Amino acid sequence: MTGPRIRKASTAAVAEAARLIRQGGLVAFPTETVYGLGGDATNGQAVAAIFAAKDRPRFNPLICHVLDAAQAEALAEIDDRARALIARFWPGPLTLVLRRRPSAAVSLLATAGLDSIAIRSPDHPVARALIEAAGVPIAAPSANRSGTLSPTTASHVAASLGNRVGMILNGGACRIGLESTIVGLIGPRPALLRPGGVPVEAIEANVGPIAAAGEGPVQAPGMLSRHYAPGRPVRLEATEKRTGEALLGFGGAITEADLDLSPTGDLAEAAANLFAMLRALDRPGVAAIAVTPVPGTGLGLAINDRLCRAAAATTEDREADWSDERGPSAPCVLPDAAEDLG
Ligand code: TXA
Ligand code: MG
Repeated sequence: MTGPRIRKASTAAVAEAARLIRQGGLVAFPTETVYGLGGDATNGQAVAAIFAAKDRPRFNPLICHVLDAAQAEALAEIDDRARALIARFWPGPLTLVLRRRPSAAVSLLATAGLDSIAIRSPDHPVARALIEAAGVPIAAPSANRSGTLSPTTASHVAASLGNRVGMILNGGACRIGLESTIVGLIGPRPALLRPGGVPVEAIEANVGPIAAAGEGPVQAPGMLSRHYAPGRPVRLEATEKRTGEALLGFGGAITEADLDLSPTGDLAEAAANLFAMLRALDRPGVAAIAVTPVPGTGLGLAINDRLCRAAAATTEDREADWSDERGPSAPCVLPDAAEDLG
């Protein structure tokens, strides 16, 4: 078996990597923080492939990497605070969580069905050349298997992901070696969601005091969350459609399904469709959303985790804004999402 393709990040290699991204493939690439595992953020199947390659047990939202403020503006609402931080820290190790525009051409899986979106503009020539050549925002978590350390060299990536990545662009060791700082700008006060490459003091000097994540009273609606809870009850393991229900099927098992995550039983396709279909069925006139069983292997683990959380949501969760801080709190398959699952 051949090893992963590690390529020196020449102009030709970047052009080839950009082609791979546009075809829905995955490319590991250097940024100033850590190596990212990139895919076309607008392509749900490519985003599903990212989760599969990382063995992520849960669909936590990904950061979309863009060239500049203009590209970010097409995806999110940029307020004055965001504008000030972008002017000061982009390109660089600062990720902003902003309100996602309804028109944003980004897969709902990349943002885990949330109404917010995490965006950053990396300060690394290879990352920038790749984003520019690909011509799309690149969704990229750190290029490691879930639960392991973020990689700061191409050989770390190869050791962790092996042949699960189409190509590894080698741009040497990452300058910062620590992930980006994540600041949420959804609520009235900026919130520190993850400390990282930009010191929090430097950010406060620009936008004033920052709340630590989870600090202060819950601000509803519109605070930050990693959970999407449908507005109506979800019933799992459904084998039939009951009165008033909308039925979400899998694998063509039930013909009366309103929608099918993947008629052919393809888990990557199901993952790519999951949030869009839940939202489509989450509509007036529907009393509950019933979902037929989905296998728990591969991406099915994360799909079931998400469905389980949706089913465990309380009335309060459901009445909250989609981007509200309170999410379903019942643990499903794995520990709580507050930890960074890598
Ligand atoms: O430095 C970095 O940020 C690296 C490089 C590759 O850019 N990326 C990275 O991505 O560390 P990842 O997936 O390992 O971490 C992204 C974090 C996760 O903890 C995720 O929950 C959070 O960002 N996140 C993404 N979108 C979010 C959103 N809409 N609301 C709240 N948190 C979000
Ligand atoms: Mg990570």
